[in-house]
Amino acid sequence: MKTNIGIPGNDIEKIATLLNTLLADEYMLYTKTRNAHWNVTGPNFDELHKFFKNQYVELDAIIDDIAERVRSLGHFALGYLMDFLSVTHLNEENYDFSNSKQIIQTLFNDHETIIRIIRNDITPISKKYKDLGTANFMTGLMEQHEKMAWMLRSFLT
Ligand SMILES: [Fe+2]
Repeated sequence: MKTNIGIPGNDIEKIATLLNTLLADEYMLYTKTRNAHWNVTGPNFDELHKFFKNQYVELDAIIDDIAERVRSLGHFALGYLMDFLSVTHLNEENYDFSNSKQIIQTLFNDHETIIRIIRNDITPISKKYKDLGTANFMTGLMEQHEKMAWMLRSFLT
């Protein structure tokens, strides 16, 4: 059944596509963060193992919220790994798991990439499509990523 919430169907479709692309990016970053949690080695293993877990737990909740936002708009959420891989902006690296700084740097870069993407998307979603609900939701996500990026950055400086 189509939604009747004051936003034309074509516009809702575009918003759903932006959200599904963000979902794919978050899924990539979630998987990369879990990979780091599992495989990181070195003298700070215990601290980093727990730190990466805190971050992937937060990303897991974000993923669920984005998918359910897509459903709230009357569209289907992407749910196949192949689909995530085909639309994501992020790449996977071959990590040297003994080089925790390199891992942290790549995760930090990915958070900043997502922050820039969300910031770019918020303007058309609020101004052009007038979907303030999604714009507000995405603004909250951007703030969460800014905080997670700060924590990663703090290991690097
Ligand atoms: Fe674990």
